[in-house]
Amino acid sequence: MIKAVRGTRDLLPPDTGLWNFVERKVREIFARYNYHEIRTPIFESTELFARGVGEETDIVSKEMFTWEDKARAASEKTQTLTLRPENTAGVVRAYIEHELGRSGLLQKLYYIGPQFRRERPQKGRYRQFYQIGAEVLGPASAGSELPIRDAEVLDMLTALLDAVGLKGWTLYLNSVGCLNCRPAYNQALREALAGVKDQLCADCRRRAETNPLRVLDCKVPADQPIIEKLPKIADYLDEDCREHFAQVRAMLDTLEVPYQVNERMVRGLDYYTRTTFEFTHGELGAQSAVLGGGRYDGLSEQIGGPKAPGIGFAIGEDRLVLALQAQSQEALGTLQAFIIPLGAGMSRHALRLARELRSQGITADVSDESFRIKKSFETAEKLGAEYAVIVGENEVQAGAFSVKKLKSGEQTTVPRAELRQFLQS
Ligand code: HAM
Repeated sequence: MIKAVRGTRDLLPPDTGLWNFVERKVREIFARYNYHEIRTPIFESTELFARGVGEETDIVSKEMFTWEDKARAASEKTQTLTLRPENTAGVVRAYIEHELGRSGLLQKLYYIGPQFRRERPQKGRYRQFYQIGAEVLGPASAGSELPIRDAEVLDMLTALLDAVGLKGWTLYLNSVGCLNCRPAYNQALREALAGVKDQLCADCRRRAETNPLRVLDCKVPADQPIIEKLPKIADYLDEDCREHFAQVRAMLDTLEVPYQVNERMVRGLDYYTRTTFEFTHGELGAQSAVLGGGRYDGLSEQIGGPKAPGIGFAIGEDRLVLALQAQSQEALGTLQAFIIPLGAGMSRHALRLARELRSQGITADVSDESFRIKKSFETAEKLGAEYAVIVGENEVQAGAFSVKKLKSGEQTTVPRAELRQFLQS
């Protein structure tokens, strides 16, 4: 048997119903916050991620699906290509390529789509996974650097999670400083690490030299007590970064968005500056981050573009759906009516009634007349239908149908004209 590749999976009904519900809701909220959709290619040149996300990150150093793409025509070159492990670098590349900054306006862009990382698969961690993300970027003259952008993004995230019904999340917030104050912090980290790095894992020993900030990202349990004692970034922020962070927090307080400052949270991508954040959820176990994001004021320049400060996030859609499934069994997009034709010749009447109800906005499905009524009720229950509607000869003639509420077993006769109202009540 040929099976789906390790770390990939099929999404099947009824789960896809929940995925569609989530995507519908987030599109509504994005529209309300004046975001527009962007779709970038699934693969890009490897260099984009190496320069954008950072060579020393786990993503670039271990997790990318990369291949050598041979030239097929004289006009083509051999290229090294990579399946996108995330979408921020692609969006910023598109911003530069299409000169989206020329309008002088902020670009508020969102995306929904698959990403690829060669991680060790487990619950909540897949090699093909889906992100719902957004980026706000633009020339500094459009206010792209201001704390109000950070606060509005975080405010929108609470609205997104509310709209899909996720409860019980925690927002962790930090500031990782900027290109101006980071060198001093990196230096302090290097010095602190010099004495202890031999006790750390191989990755940390290397990173202590190449990119000490990445040490804070280490997940190896034995390393944690040492990492806990390293210098804190908060003590190294320059005046502007400190003020920026204070303003973001003050706005969140006014918006009554609850958060906890977590000074160790530097996030696994190199492009971050200033505000970084993650939302976690208790139902997710080890992979508790439902979403992550932050500011990336230097990313555009890093990949050869103009100055274009920005901030964004990506929700792990797989994890969001897992958390929603864990928190409630409440079926979304339920079948409201299962229509059961009773006896020969009743199928066409059942179909007609189904069409009538569907056109009135009722979700309906139709059984067939070969079913015995008992079996049809069982099928209706298995499908999770709320009501069964019986279409027999007497019913059609009388213009009133016998309707059974499946949970309680209660049966009522309802005139055709009142059916919709009854089924929706
Ligand atoms: P990230 O933290 O690498 O950030 O990923 C964001 C979210 O994607 C994670 O919090 C998690 O929910 C989900 N995720 C990541 N890897 C996997 C996986 N292997 N399986 C399932 N879900 C996963 C970024 O990707 C940044 N581009 C976010 C961003 C946008 N920052 C600024 N703008």
